[in-house]
Amino acid sequence: MSLLEVSGLQVSYGDTDVLFGIDLAVDEGEIVAVVGSNGAGKTTLLQTIAALLPCTAGKVKLDGQSIENSDTHRAVDQGIVYVPEGRRLFPRLSVLTNLELGAFCAHARPERDATLQRVYELFPVLKERAGQLAGTLSGGEQQMCAIGRGLMSRPRLLLIDEVSLGLAPVVISKVYEAIAEIRRMGTSVVLVEQNVHLAFKAADRAYVIKQGLVALQGESAALMNDPDVKKAYLGL
Ligand SMILES: Nc1ncnc2c1ncn2[C@@H]1O[C@H](COP(=O)(O)OP(=O)(O)OP(=O)(O)O)[C@@H](O)[C@H]1O
Ligand SMILES: [Mg+2]
Repeated sequence: MSLLEVSGLQVSYGDTDVLFGIDLAVDEGEIVAVVGSNGAGKTTLLQTIAALLPCTAGKVKLDGQSIENSDTHRAVDQGIVYVPEGRRLFPRLSVLTNLELGAFCAHARPERDATLQRVYELFPVLKERAGQLAGTLSGGEQQMCAIGRGLMSRPRLLLIDEVSLGLAPVVISKVYEAIAEIRRMGTSVVLVEQNVHLAFKAADRAYVIKQGLVALQGESAALMNDPDVKKAYLGL
């Protein structure tokens, strides 16, 4: 049994259908990439898994238990956390407070200080800037703070939307090193990434989403050599 099993997932915004039956699985300790063009439904997929959006049909199972259409708090309690595109920190609160707010759920609260130390080890810059207002962090630091805040809830599955968007190459490397370390610490990761090269390099497996459906899926290494993927997504 996979950690996460999504099957036949359908999602609509009002009368507009956006996901048409997505199947996706994530194993314990896996990094899985979701790629696809703008508007394909990647954010919708992640938000539905994290119970930020309801689905109209299909299942989302964590450890075999159905969790679709539950509420976001419950999803966090169960170990699923979504790190949104655009970071969405509280700009007028300190880095430390933003991180601490991530540890609101019952299983994370008693471990808060120990988790904070782990986040600081992962992103030393957050420790240096603990007292600084989050809104004054650089884009890269904000992404680190957003991922750190997600980790504060001690998730089993971290969903990260637009990992590298707007970040400088050196920062992107740091964030991807941290993602590899997060996996080593035992958390599975689903990442959405515009840069398909980066996504395939970081992930064990990948899904290509096209107009609300899985167009292709497989081991990243194999997908990288797929002629259709090369032509459509890798510019080769
Ligand atoms: N709140 C909303 N109300 C109506 N339609 C929406 C809403 N959010 C997204 N959509 C539509 O759903 C479709 C999928 O959007 P989504 O944001 O999931 O795509 P995406 O793959 O994440 O795109 P991007 O790469 O641009 O982030 C798009 O056509 C979008 O316009
Ligand atoms: Mg998106």
